[in-house]
Amino acid sequence: MPPTIAVIGSHSALQILKGAKQEGLRTLLICLKGREKLYRRYNLSDRTVSVDSVEAILGEDIQDLLEGEEAVFVPHGTLISGGRLEDLERRFRPRIFGNRFIFKWEYDRDLKDRLLREAGIKTPKNFRSYTEIDGPAIVKLPGAEGGRGYFIAKSPRDFEEKIRRLIEKGLIRRGEEEKIFIQEYVIGVPVYPHYFWSAVEGRLELMGCDRRYETSIDAIGRISAKDQLELSITPTFRVIGNMPLVLRESLLMDIFDEGEKFVSAAERLVPPGIIGPFCLEMICDEEGRLYTFEFSGRIVAGTNLFVNGSPYSDLLFDEPMCMGRRIAKEIKAASELGEIEKVTT
Ligand SMILES: Nc1ncnc2c1ncn2[C@@H]1O[C@H](COP(=O)(O)OP(=O)(O)O)[C@@H](O)[C@H]1O
Ligand SMILES: [Mg+2]
Repeated sequence: MPPTIAVIGSHSALQILKGAKQEGLRTLLICLKGREKLYRRYNLSDRTVSVDSVEAILGEDIQDLLEGEEAVFVPHGTLISGGRLEDLERRFRPRIFGNRFIFKWEYDRDLKDRLLREAGIKTPKNFRSYTEIDGPAIVKLPGAEGGRGYFIAKSPRDFEEKIRRLIEKGLIRRGEEEKIFIQEYVIGVPVYPHYFWSAVEGRLELMGCDRRYETSIDAIGRISAKDQLELSITPTFRVIGNMPLVLRESLLMDIFDEGEKFVSAAERLVPPGIIGPFCLEMICDEEGRLYTFEFSGRIVAGTNLFVNGSPYSDLLFDEPMCMGRRIAKEIKAASELGEIEKVTT
């Protein structure tokens, strides 16, 4: 029996469901209560079960259901932000597409940094203490998602002033300063390539690329320099959406090199390594150098841009191939070869 594709209703679920249907697979939607109506509009799930929270997937009833359906569970961003990754690693019995052991490396900033560094991927410099800040630095707050409250500091004094303001605003508590992550701010433009490592084909594929649309950093160019100064704006990085990006063809060599380094480091440090989709979040400077500051070890929401395929997926496939469909295709292929273990953990 071909496997059923199961997914939590959020993030990139529509694309994953659509891709599974395109590959002729059955779909099971684990829907957060209150969102059923949205997913009914698209009619992409063969079966829907409602749950109160993301954590409900750890419950015996949902696990039994998934195992009974011989489902392959496809993880996405909602799972990582939901925490309980230890439980997901150890207590979740159904098959997960991808490497379930890599999620904590994505969640934990120190582990994330270690993986990138040991991969030999070019990363921005980190400052151990704010007193070391000697050029533009980006300050990342603990637990913040989507860059809320992040700011740029130019010097230790500038840092002290801005942190004081954040404490006053309640965005950070006193004593939490130690968990703050300070990194060289690379002047350049964001580039987020969407990779797919196919364990079945043994090849790295570039499926698309996007850039983020972030407020307020992308907003300050809309007002005059004079107003920027008078309003003393501190830009922040809250993600609002994604925009498609096609790169200069010459950059693709470096894009693939960095991706390949990531694949081999993940294999060494987090066995069985990367399986399926991942993303490196990069800034490209004026020399065309790519600095990676983050990764995602699963499908990213930026792939939602390319439900009908992207310029890059079109070069590889003769049919529209979104990331959701690519995942379904890989699962189907592995299952037909009797090698489902190769793409699941
Ligand atoms: N070292 C850096 N240099 C320049 N911009 C950066 C750097 N690190 C992060 N950014 C910007 O800040 C945003 C949020 O940072 P990120 O580390 O991705 O945080 P989050 O964990 O919230 O996703 C990024 O999307 C990017 O625009
Ligand atoms: Mg990020």
